[in-house]
Amino acid sequence: MPNYLDANRSRLRQPAWGQLYRGTPLLKNPCDLWAECQIMDECKPKLIIECGTYLGGSAAYYADRVRYYAGHVLSIDLNVKKWQQSAKVQFGDISLPHRDNLSYQIGQSSVDLELLEYVQSRAEVVESVMVVLDSSHLYKHVIQELHAYAPLVTKGQYLIVEDVFLDPTDGPERAIKEFFPARPEWQHMPKWEDMFGPDLTYNKLGFWRKK
Ligand SMILES: C[S@@+](CC[C@H](N)C(=O)[O-])C[C@H]1O[C@@H](n2cnc3c(N)ncnc32)[C@H](O)[C@@H]1O
Repeated sequence: MPNYLDANRSRLRQPAWGQLYRGTPLLKNPCDLWAECQIMDECKPKLIIECGTYLGGSAAYYADRVRYYAGHVLSIDLNVKKWQQSAKVQFGDISLPHRDNLSYQIGQSSVDLELLEYVQSRAEVVESVMVVLDSSHLYKHVIQELHAYAPLVTKGQYLIVEDVFLDPTDGPERAIKEFFPARPEWQHMPKWEDMFGPDLTYNKLGFWRKK
């Protein structure tokens, strides 16, 4: 019998395309977006670091959610111009959403050493930091991100790995299974994955809380 993830990988992928948040496209499973809202409301991070901006929809969404307790969002991407160009036909001209509690670092890989120094300097001056990994979903990249970003997450906050349902052999699932078992300071939080029914998530094995 194939497990749920294996049976549903291709079906789960479809609904994300074409969603807008306040006019900006974003690529998220709505069940996961809502779970993330609940997590943010519960943990009230002062800084959310998002790897993977795309067109900025999820960054704007996070910024709007955390605004009421003075939280900030730092969103990182290698290249958003190509997405702005390719989205033109469907959505017209799209620029990154502006918020006073949202900043972007665009143009370097999320694991670039110079960028990581900057991110660390942002993280070390705030009391609570949450991380969302949603950039390249290749195993090699996710494992590097886990090593670089997990130490920045503060106690009681979350590290969320997105799109775990993608390729089980060369994607986030493999990186998660390699990274977390040897690190008892992390607790897997499957309740967010099953919030709306078993496995109605793109992020199976993706919600981790630092004890
Ligand atoms: C899945 S999309 C992000 C979706 C966005 N968070 C949302 O929900 O709308 C992945 C993004 O990661 C970016 N990306 C790919 N490789 C990267 C890397 N090495 N460093 C930083 N960003 C990268 C891509 O340019 C793309 O915009």
